[in-house]
Amino acid sequence: MFSYKSSMATPIRLLPREQREGRLREAGYNVFDLGADDVFVDLLTDSGTGTMSDAQWAAMVRGDEAYAGSRSFERLRAAVSEVMGFDRVVPTHQGRGAENVLYGLLVGEGDVVPNNTHFDTTRAHVAENGGDPVDCPVEGADDPDAEGAFKGNLDVETVRTLAEDVDAERIPAIVLTMTNNSMAGQPVSVANVEETRALANELDATFVIDACRFAENAHFVRRREDGYADRPLAEIAHEQLSHADALVMSGKKDGLANVGGFVAVRDSDLFDRAKQRAILYEGFPTYGGMAGRDMAAMAVGLREAVTEEYLEARVGQVERLGERLYEAGVPIYTPVGGHAVYLDAERALPDVPPKAFPGQTLVCELYREGGVRGVELGSFAFPGADRPELVRLALPRRTYHDEHLEHVVETAAAVLERREGIDGLEIVSEPENESLRHFSAELRPR
Ligand code: F0G
Repeated sequence: MFSYKSSMATPIRLLPREQREGRLREAGYNVFDLGADDVFVDLLTDSGTGTMSDAQWAAMVRGDEAYAGSRSFERLRAAVSEVMGFDRVVPTHQGRGAENVLYGLLVGEGDVVPNNTHFDTTRAHVAENGGDPVDCPVEGADDPDAEGAFKGNLDVETVRTLAEDVDAERIPAIVLTMTNNSMAGQPVSVANVEETRALANELDATFVIDACRFAENAHFVRRREDGYADRPLAEIAHEQLSHADALVMSGKKDGLANVGGFVAVRDSDLFDRAKQRAILYEGFPTYGGMAGRDMAAMAVGLREAVTEEYLEARVGQVERLGERLYEAGVPIYTPVGGHAVYLDAERALPDVPPKAFPGQTLVCELYREGGVRGVELGSFAFPGADRPELVRLALPRRTYHDEHLEHVVETAAAVLERREGIDGLEIVSEPENESLRHFSAELRPR
């Protein structure tokens, strides 16, 4: 049940089918190149696309734009301290800014960085600093049908073996991405956090949590992990982070803000160095590339994100979309994650051969059929990786209603109904950096 009502209406429209086909052609069959006005239900991302509360808007009006010592920064710092348990906070313009600040300090040439699964910007920042980003998901994580309460966990044994192979000194940091976005938004257990802590101690590595979706993660911990059923969500959210040495955060997710992020650390020396690096790339350490009003909005958002009313409605809506798609016969990754439903394109479009990008083909068909925009996270986005062919439908927070979800389900079911006539795509042009190709490559029907 939603614990809010909407008081601002943003018009959206469903273009006639012919026009959608034209837009798709003009965009080179790449939905990143569509104008948002031409999209009816936009599930491209849950990042910065959510609806803010009246309390957040009120805080924005009172944002303090002082360059140094801003009151809004102090509010943000206090919220991070209270909600997440870290007192040393360096604000940044968004999550990847935080990654640049932290990984630029921790990672050097020849280092190896294990992560339950790297998000694409995380991978790029580790590599940019000369490191080798290694994914260490648990067994079955990439199987859309495998059961498991915490398919987002880090496989600590894989990391141990890695440490024997590469010389433990070469592992400066171990990262837990919570929830695991590149692995279908699956949660991480507190037990796994504790194991990772012990491992980081063994290897003398910095334990970093990518906390983008830490609140959604807490929801799953309470539902699925022994001993947490009766604990308040805010307490669980805090506890999961209590074992880490550092956080990277995108406020565009569980900060419930439209922009912003931060690094938070425990060590005072690392804090000083992070502030210095932030001055170079982000801004003075009491604004870090954010406007004061954006820090003010995030300070309120972080507190709202761990409330019972908000989280029940949020994760419940994603779950409901998953259930309805499943009931309509649309193959999805199960269990459903925290911020998105991931479609299994290989099974949805079995006649499209792997080399013809079944995932990207499904993305285009969803737009063609119903003006729905999702994103491919399979062979088009991760060339050469051995991954399931997934299409992510990410729900912006507090934004869409049941009717929109119903439209998405009908659209996906209609695509499946005519799947026999659907052929795949081929690439016409792509950028030099292959790992970022899904943002700008152009395709055409085969
Ligand atoms: N880490 C994770 C796990 C993320 O999902 C993202 C962003 C980032 C870091 C970077 O944060 O966008 O604020 O710079 N994910 C968005 C997405 C873009 O669509 O999943 P950012």
